[in-house]
Amino acid sequence: MFSRNVVVQGKQSSKDTSFLGISLSDHPKPDFSPLALKGCRQRGVSAGGVRAQTAAVITPAVTRSPTDGKKTLRKGSVIVTGASSGLGLATAKALAETGKWHVIMACRDFLKAERAAKSAGMNKENYTVMHLDLASLDSVRQFVRNFQQSNMPLDVLVCNAAVYQPNARQPSFTADGFELGVGVNHLGHFLLARLLLDDLNKSEYPSRRLIIVGSITGNTNTVAGNVPPKADLGDLRGLAGGLNGLNSSAMINGGTFIGAKAYKDSKVCNMLTMQEFHRRYHEETGITFASLYPGCIADTQLFRHHIPEFRFLFPLFQKYVTKGFVSEEESGKRLAQVVSDPSLTKSGVYWSWNKNSASFENQLSQEASDPEKARRVWEISEKLVGLA
Ligand SMILES: NC(=O)c1ccc[n+]([C@@H]2O[C@H](COP(=O)([O-])OP(=O)(O)OC[C@H]3O[C@@H](n4cnc5c(N)ncnc54)[C@H](OP(=O)(O)O)[C@@H]3O)[C@@H](O)[C@H]2O)c1
Repeated sequence: MFSRNVVVQGKQSSKDTSFLGISLSDHPKPDFSPLALKGCRQRGVSAGGVRAQTAAVITPAVTRSPTDGKKTLRKGSVIVTGASSGLGLATAKALAETGKWHVIMACRDFLKAERAAKSAGMNKENYTVMHLDLASLDSVRQFVRNFQQSNMPLDVLVCNAAVYQPNARQPSFTADGFELGVGVNHLGHFLLARLLLDDLNKSEYPSRRLIIVGSITGNTNTVAGNVPPKADLGDLRGLAGGLNGLNSSAMINGGTFIGAKAYKDSKVCNMLTMQEFHRRYHEETGITFASLYPGCIADTQLFRHHIPEFRFLFPLFQKYVTKGFVSEEESGKRLAQVVSDPSLTKSGVYWSWNKNSASFENQLSQEASDPEKARRVWEISEKLVGLA
């Protein structure tokens, strides 16, 4: 049932025209030896058989220590895309330092990721950097092949990486000719998640999860989501046309290119995709599908394409005016919670946190929870990435 299967830079305006384009508030003993990992992979079964097998035998993710007879859980194995900075790095660090997780940092800049892990104080035993450029479908496929050849199990996949070009006047494009924001944030992750679903399903880890990071900026049922330009996928004509800016618009709704809107639209696609995964695969596989809004982490590199004044003022504004500011460290703990907390296993949920940093199930906007739109985004996306 499951398939196994040049970025051209746009111009940045010299003037910050999109301050309002950013939302004001979006802002037991582990065993991870190669032998143990190999064993895990070999014990994998095909889709659909996992639940019956894990119910019938001792859960293979749990090993018995020969000396004391106690059950021990092997380390969880989690892929985090875009783990070289911001939320992804903070999440990788939070998970790695528990000693219970091995983090595969899926990054486009290998050296940057290695340096980031080192400067975050991550122990080499707890992470592996693997190359992934989401702006190239070939790179996504190559990453999946490399990962599968590594014999590491896959227990959780976190689709976190993103680009945001709020001041771009012209669209940039991925190697496959898709507008960069939707190409990287949605289509690259869509292909990655589809290709790795079977690996997730083969894992015998107690809780398998696929997490796609969302955002309040794509949700027009919030104040932040109502800051223009608002997310709006329209009738998907631009997406259906391939987002190439030649014979179709670079925007999903077929409209004129607006960088901030492209990002918000991509986040709507992320949240719709999570729900469509849930509808199609949760009952059959038991995998938990989830999305989240980690809070406004106003000082990450996501804002790198903004003018320096914006980057200086925006975190201060979030800290002292809206009081919605969340540190990278805190946001990393939140996402790590969605990865590993035994109480967050509900599938199809969009998580948020209140002022006391307590998690709760949040409501998505009408568009970001529209099942018909989710189905159409899924079907068009699978054609664009070559799965249909
Ligand atoms: N910051 C916020 O306030 C906020 C709020 C809501 C949601 N989010 C979400 O949080 C997630 C992380 O954002 P962030 O704030 O942590 O931003 P960030 O610091 O800029 O991190 C983005 C990551 O994505 C990577 N990336 C970009 N293009 C890529 C590509 N083509 N292939 C592979 N990786 C690529 C970056 O790699 P390089 O290091 O090589 O550039 C970086 O590791 C995003 O999904 C964003 O939408 C953020």
